[in-house]
Amino acid sequence: ATESGESSPVLVGVIGGSGLYHLDNLTLLKHVNPETPWGFPSSPIAICALPNGTQIAFLARHGAGHTIPPSSVPSRANIAALKSLGVRAILAFSAVGSLREELAPGDFVLPDQIIDRTKGVRPASFFEGTSVVAHAMFGDPFANKLVNWLESRVRKVVEAAANSADYAARGVKPKLHTGGTIVCMEGPQFSTRAESKMYRQWGGDIINMSVLPEAKLAREAELGYALIATVTDYDSWREDESAVTAAEVFKTLHANANLSRQVAATVLAELHDAAAEGNILDEEAGSMKFSIMPRS
Ligand code: ADE
Repeated sequence: ATESGESSPVLVGVIGGSGLYHLDNLTLLKHVNPETPWGFPSSPIAICALPNGTQIAFLARHGAGHTIPPSSVPSRANIAALKSLGVRAILAFSAVGSLREELAPGDFVLPDQIIDRTKGVRPASFFEGTSVVAHAMFGDPFANKLVNWLESRVRKVVEAAANSADYAARGVKPKLHTGGTIVCMEGPQFSTRAESKMYRQWGGDIINMSVLPEAKLAREAELGYALIATVTDYDSWREDESAVTAAEVFKTLHANANLSRQVAATVLAELHDAAAEGNILDEEAGSMKFSIMPRS
């Protein structure tokens, strides 16, 4: 609570993907489980405090014990629940496969484009089943200002990790890559080698099963949305390598999750302060104003 007795606002929501089920480097204040018109979120939402007192909301996309497959994630409830807490922007983490040699397992990527290869089975709009026809702008699927702001902050944490004894002992140096196209596939099976090569020809750089419809729904809810992608594997396009397996993904998941927690803690403290100064969290506010079709 602030001096005036109001509880401090929760401006930023974090969605954790595979491997990232909690931010236990932050202080847990409480769990909340808001019921929305689209049901309950994937997991109760943890309200956590940063050392400077800032509060953030954390949600585990696949459930706290990873029980929800990508095609069944209740994305509308997740986005609506975060919005109901007053969140204005979402930092989403996700494990991804790499479609490029230079994007190595352990690396972080801030993509700027998406190719939709989901199969139409995931409810992808808040307007579905209503009498309102809306077409949200989605040419730039991520909140550009927020992503630009994140770049130097995330880089600092990733570079510090790359120079740490821990990573040196394992012989890996994680890097941050900015820009790039993420392919979102339906799954749950991984891609064939032919599909993996086709995605490369299409201009895909990384691949996951979770950025959609999450990013679309965040846009409809007028929330800023940035994806911090963590590379776990090379998918299946490399000729002389075995195709990706879940076991390979798990191997890198743990190290990526630890670094993601450090990234989150550092970035969130600064982001809250930056939000107070500028409009970095508000770039999507009001964006749906021009998206609703007028009735004739
Ligand atoms: N998530 C992590 N690795 C992946 C891959 N290779 N394909 C799809 N989703 C993934």
